[in-house]
Amino acid sequence: MRLSGKLSLAVLISGRGSNLQALIDACEDPGFPAAIKIVVSNRPAVYGLERAQNHNIPVQAIDHKQYSSRETFEDALSDALERHAPDLICLAGFMRVLTPHFIRRWEGKIINIHPSLLPAYKGVDTHARVLADGGAESGCSVHYVTAELDSGPVIVQRRVPVLPGDTPDILAARILEQEHIAYPEAVRRIAETMNG
Ligand code: GRF
Repeated sequence: MRLSGKLSLAVLISGRGSNLQALIDACEDPGFPAAIKIVVSNRPAVYGLERAQNHNIPVQAIDHKQYSSRETFEDALSDALERHAPDLICLAGFMRVLTPHFIRRWEGKIINIHPSLLPAYKGVDTHARVLADGGAESGCSVHYVTAELDSGPVIVQRRVPVLPGDTPDILAARILEQEHIAYPEAVRRIAETMNG
């Protein structure tokens, strides 16, 4: 890595990109130990791409629908990423499941944010499931991506209470605020570890 001493990041998104924005804002602090080199979306014309462009960060849309298989899509994604040689690939609301084909190629360099306290509530519809179970708390986890979905080592977690009257949307919003703190914190911890 890192002539500048900073960890170089690629951020993968599929939508509105509020976690991307949290990373952009963190990286704009000169003391933050990472910089975003490229933002890639698997959906064209999403708001997250605009957020990156507003900060002069290179963007690329790679529409998964244009590819005949997950692997050919992933190869196009890897080719785009390789041009920027990222130290770390941050999945931020990236809604494609990545296969071992991609994960092996970037072994140990992919992290994700998931809106539950992993290992609880892997997969989708986390908030509805937490509420259906009558859980007292939930939260978010930033974790390494491994071949098994939402199962890699956790880097940072932040907790929130589940409150009376919560709906999935209300709980999601409370957790999202914590995601925006957790993601930059996880990147900082990784940068500090890699810098020894
Ligand atoms: C977040 O809740 C994240 O945990 C989940 O997808 C959502 C993405 O939101 N994986 P945003 O695009 O970062 O605003």
